[in-house]
Amino acid sequence: MKGIILAGGNGTRLAPMTSVVSKQLLPIYNKPMIYYPLSVLLMGGITEILVITRPQDLPMFERLLGDGSRFGAHIDYAVQDTPRGLADALIVGRRHVGTDDVALILGDNIFHGHDFASIVADAIKNNVGATLFGYEVSDPERYGVARLDRHGALIDVVEKPTDPPSKLAITGFYIYSNEALDVAAGLTPSARGELEITDVNKYFVDRGLARIVPLTGGFAWLDAGTSESYIDACNYVHAIETRQGRKIACPEEIAFDAGLIDTDELLVAAEQFDSSEYGSYLVQLANRSAA
Ligand code: TTP
Repeated sequence: MKGIILAGGNGTRLAPMTSVVSKQLLPIYNKPMIYYPLSVLLMGGITEILVITRPQDLPMFERLLGDGSRFGAHIDYAVQDTPRGLADALIVGRRHVGTDDVALILGDNIFHGHDFASIVADAIKNNVGATLFGYEVSDPERYGVARLDRHGALIDVVEKPTDPPSKLAITGFYIYSNEALDVAAGLTPSARGELEITDVNKYFVDRGLARIVPLTGGFAWLDAGTSESYIDACNYVHAIETRQGRKIACPEEIAFDAGLIDTDELLVAAEQFDSSEYGSYLVQLANRSAA
């Protein structure tokens, strides 16, 4: 399974914060936004990751994440010269994915909940065509929305419906079989001029090959696309981390816990953050495990 983080787009709703900085590099409380989707992929055991950015932002993402070895991963980069739509990630990422299956995650999506690592691992293991993650929202008309039959099976996905068939929004994390690459390559732009991920999802739904995993029970799904949702995400992470004394989306910690990096490598990773609170956290993790 290969991973793709889609971190392009113009972030127009966050301007002027995004006038010179990519949205996915803005901090969510104490770490760059892209750490959150990166952590989701690492939690799922996905270590071959492609980051897709705008051309002008690529050097900054490279400086931030490097080749991924700090996280026990291998990170490659590709550019999307114009925001052609979410499904374009499967076209830009074609060479990276090769003949593998692929997990695509949006660079501004934040997931947090109990046992998410095993939810993701199960989803990967059980995927046959497309596995989507649903989250109940109060304003489904803003999202791609799932239609379920009375047994809870996914029977349709509808993009920004005026009359939503459910409150279950499709989140920005998708697991696909390799066939999705051909599906995306065959798409034509929608009325709004984008290659729609909903069309890829529909392809699998129509063939009975799509499943939706509802994220329930205190789970949090946040996207940081507007000033309001951005500050909500920052406050959420701040509140949970302060209360629990554990970080949300610390890729070095996830890699360490999964045995992808050892104590020495964790300490090397910590060094670059000097005396920051993030660096001290990594040092504590290393010391605790050595004790
Ligand atoms: P959006 O939030 O739909 O778009 P945006 O980030 O450009 O924001 P705005 O609407 O304020 O201009 O995109 C969701 C995520 O997908 C976000 O992380 C950006 C990314 N994206 C791309 O990388 N390429 C694309 O072609 C599109 C449409 C989105």
